[in-house]
Amino acid sequence: MSKVTSSTLMKFKQEGKKFTALTAYDASFAGAFDSEGIDVLLVGDSMGMVLQGHSDTLPVTVDDIAYHTACVRRGIERTLLIADMPFMSYATPEQTMQNATKLMQAGAAMVKVEGGEWLLESVKMLTERGIPVCAHLGLTPQSVHVFGGFKVQGRDNENAQRIINEAKAMEQAGAQLLVLECIPAQLAKTITEELTIPVIGIGAGKDTDGQILVMHDVLGISSGYIPRFSKNYLKQTGEIRAAVKAYIEEVEQGIFPGEEHTFN
Ligand code: KIV
Ligand code: NA
Repeated sequence: MSKVTSSTLMKFKQEGKKFTALTAYDASFAGAFDSEGIDVLLVGDSMGMVLQGHSDTLPVTVDDIAYHTACVRRGIERTLLIADMPFMSYATPEQTMQNATKLMQAGAAMVKVEGGEWLLESVKMLTERGIPVCAHLGLTPQSVHVFGGFKVQGRDNENAQRIINEAKAMEQAGAQLLVLECIPAQLAKTITEELTIPVIGIGAGKDTDGQILVMHDVLGISSGYIPRFSKNYLKQTGEIRAAVKAYIEEVEQGIFPGEEHTFN
């Protein structure tokens, strides 16, 4: 099986083939996800919540992400590996270059950054210097305290239009992938259609090019609650590899996400 790259995902988009992504934090789970056919793995700063037990992603450091990126890298052969840039690690272009380099050298093939307009210069700088970028718009959890909670974004026309403009600007600046989190399905559909680059959704409806979920939600072991847009696949399959397979099949067949996982 050939390695998944940004060109592979671009081809999937052009062919209308839905692809799947999961978060991963270690070699063993990552290896299983890779061999079952997950296309993209993200070493997410969600680790602050699901690994470290914090109530948000803010305490995660570049060293934390680098360590887990190196672990995941050792476990995989095929998947595209993205590493999250954590809170305040890309506040200035200088910091961004330094920290993104660290994550690429730890084994990432792309870095992900949360934010719009203010980030465009950094996205351009990274891409020009050889570091592929995945943008992340909508509910960007590092801004939870600005949003006043984990809330669906882009519900009113003004904010929806701003997200559309930012998505286009990100593509223009060189971003090769876009994550849309917790926005109305119609808005995600519009953005997916208007962009050339592939779009991955979480809580963004069924019309994005790909879907991503946090592995702990898919396996039903998140402490506290499971988000409305997520699905416990272990429950219906009883086995981890079968759960991953079911997730892939349901995304490919357009079964997941269903209406019950979608914001309108
Ligand atoms: O940190 C994370 O897990 C993420 C995904 C939910 C997109 O950013
Ligand atoms: Na994240």
